[in-house]
Amino acid sequence: MKSIVTTQYSIHFNSTCYTELNALLQRSNFSKIFVIVDSNTHNFCYANFMAKVETNLEIEIIEIEAGEIHKTIDTCVGVWSALSDLNADRKSLIINLGGGVVTDLGGFVASTYKRGIKYINVPTSLLAMVDASVGGKTGVDLDSLKNQIGVINIPEMVLVDTRFLSTLPQNEMRSGLAEMLKHGLIFSELYWNKFKDLSLLNIEGLDDLIYESIIIKQNIIDIDPFEENLRKTLNFGHTLGHAIESYYLSDPDKPNLLHGEAVAIGMVLACYISSKLCDFSEEKNQEIKDDITKIFGRITINEADYDPIIELLKHDKKNEHGNVNFVLLEAIGKPKINCLVENSLIVDAFKFYHA
Ligand code: GLY
Repeated sequence: MKSIVTTQYSIHFNSTCYTELNALLQRSNFSKIFVIVDSNTHNFCYANFMAKVETNLEIEIIEIEAGEIHKTIDTCVGVWSALSDLNADRKSLIINLGGGVVTDLGGFVASTYKRGIKYINVPTSLLAMVDASVGGKTGVDLDSLKNQIGVINIPEMVLVDTRFLSTLPQNEMRSGLAEMLKHGLIFSELYWNKFKDLSLLNIEGLDDLIYESIIIKQNIIDIDPFEENLRKTLNFGHTLGHAIESYYLSDPDKPNLLHGEAVAIGMVLACYISSKLCDFSEEKNQEIKDDITKIFGRITINEADYDPIIELLKHDKKNEHGNVNFVLLEAIGKPKINCLVENSLIVDAFKFYHA
């Protein structure tokens, strides 16, 4: 697959990843490499990755605990301290080898350590390949509120080696699929139809779809890297999705919802709201709900949960002047940003989701 080269960084695929990484290490003046992993990627990905890296530089591993609940400033403090203890300097390079938690947190640590050192993302989950590792969003959660602290800072390169997916559990694959479905819904019906095909979870046919999904995202970032307008469309399904995810994260009695699972619900709710506010076709709305619930099943959200979830919307990062700004759809491939939505319509959307 051809590398995606932008004015700021490049995204390389499969064997090209290692040629490009080794060439970068050869021509750059890095002092030392720090690979940030979590316990899973340390076990399942680190050895495979290192087997392809050719360098005489000293390499240190920093392991963080796996899971969204560890995407916190406390974990960052641990990593900053480890970097300091291991004498990382401004010429050190951080390589984030992991899923979205590792690439978000590792990118933030790199962007802030000694006012910023260079970093490379090596996503190992489908979600990180098609979304989290691309476009330079870095950060951590604040208590259970998602991604409240962070900066946009582009990595040196992103290396997408889809062989890492062979060790990924099915629910994590589905979580990544949600972001691909989102790219389809905001970009074109053709891609929505391609991405919703369940057979794509078969790793054989997946590479091209991953590539196309990244192109959709990167083309948006090229136009609006700092999310002034167009990049907001990438938050389709995330306004309620993040609120639902935060709500479930904050309650130990609730089942563990992966990011993509929460976004999948958020997309069904956003399509319903779109059908009421933006003339989005009722037929498509029903079809999307059926397709998404066929892939993700249906999570029970009790009526008693609606108000606390709606309350969490006030922390959404797209809010401006006290308004919650939804991304809705006028049609598949025609997103509309900065839409205001009455709470009563959100409650109706939850009811539609359960109907
Ligand atoms: N995950 C949405 C974005 O990177 O803008």
